[in-house]
Amino acid sequence: MVSFSALLSSVSVLAAFFVPAVLGDNPINSAFAYGSTKVRGVNLGGWLVLEPWITPSLFDHTGNSAIVDEWTFGQLQNRNTALAALQSHWNTWITEQDFISIANAGLNHVRIPIGYWAFEVGPGEPFISGQLPYLQKAVGWARTHGLKVIVDLHGAPGSQNGFDNSGHRISFPQWHSNSTNVARTDAIIKQIASLFVNDQDVVTVIAPLNEPAGFDGSDVLSVVQQYWYDSYGNIRFPYGTSQQSNTVVLLHDAFQPLSYWQGFQTPPGWQGVAMDTHIYQMFSQDEVSRSNQQHIQAACNMASTLSSFDLWLIVGEWTPAATDCATYLNGLGVGARFDGSYPGSTRVGSCSGITGSSSTFSSSYKTFLRQYWEAQTITYEKAAGWIQWTWKAENADDWSYQAGLEAGWIPQNPTQRQFPNICG
Ligand SMILES: *[C@@H]1O[C@H](CO)[C@@H](O)[C@H](O)[C@H]1NC(C)=O
Repeated sequence: MVSFSALLSSVSVLAAFFVPAVLGDNPINSAFAYGSTKVRGVNLGGWLVLEPWITPSLFDHTGNSAIVDEWTFGQLQNRNTALAALQSHWNTWITEQDFISIANAGLNHVRIPIGYWAFEVGPGEPFISGQLPYLQKAVGWARTHGLKVIVDLHGAPGSQNGFDNSGHRISFPQWHSNSTNVARTDAIIKQIASLFVNDQDVVTVIAPLNEPAGFDGSDVLSVVQQYWYDSYGNIRFPYGTSQQSNTVVLLHDAFQPLSYWQGFQTPPGWQGVAMDTHIYQMFSQDEVSRSNQQHIQAACNMASTLSSFDLWLIVGEWTPAATDCATYLNGLGVGARFDGSYPGSTRVGSCSGITGSSSTFSSSYKTFLRQYWEAQTITYEKAAGWIQWTWKAENADDWSYQAGLEAGWIPQNPTQRQFPNICG
């Protein structure tokens, strides 16, 4: 952690605002009681940021296997064709009816990923913008139907992780190594905070950056830490004065163990900061090789780590899916570890009847999905709550909250348990 004095000298503007918070005279007054009411929600994945595995049809229709992310979607086909496909997708993938269904399912939050290119596109960047009016419409729908919104910056200039879900699938992410990219991102967070400054009843949280690649080393992590300090100023002080907002800043753990962040931006010096951690058990050979019982046990075993963290801790992405079988999950054109089609992997079993349409799922598999879903929600509610990835997917019902509700492995009331003692 950066020392207090280093912080003061490096962020002098923030330091001026720092004093009132230290005195504790302006505690956050959020429209949602984080820490006492559990966050239960879904991500609206694959809507304003494309992901090939969530909407494979958008990519398959291009007929070009080099189109693997939103960057190449704009770069390698006719711009008007791409724009028309995007507009039709934005208009149909998520509508007000989804907000009604999400509220009816007893959920209280939606996390909405959006890319930097919705706000500005630099010279030579092939991204197509136009997403912002949809985000604003979504905030209105959320207000009407009583849901809170987490606005989540999911893709930064240069890409913060190189994943296709950052908009640009590349081997060496270039966000952290280029101060122009970081400065552009700071400006976008300011813009987001100002855009929703009068919507703090609904947009209760801004997440300044999804999944920065902390696994790439300490140079990434030091840029991320400074960026979190700057984001705190940008989100908590959107008025250009010492007046604070009621907006929660949701940091991401950058794939570090929670112990790495212990003591970072904690009260009383810092107000309204929460930590986001993402929990998946299928992105390594070891994890896809676990038995169903081992998956459940691994989830249950996280309870004490999650519950003892010193900030509000939200599991902002997780899934009842236990394999990487979903088509394009590891990237368009990349196979799955589970069936051995991923380079260097060892086959565990067949992917048939595990993903795709739930009509192909056996009743014992659906029972497992229910058990694993309950084990995770029980465990994550030991912390501040959970947001499942994702609300819907074209052809991966194991990941879809909507499909789980329809087929019954997700309960209509998320507090209703069939296996209340699954974690012992
Ligand atoms: C840094 O990123 C900007 C775009 O944000 C780009 O124009 C510039 O060339 C990059 N600089 C380097 C040294 O790569």
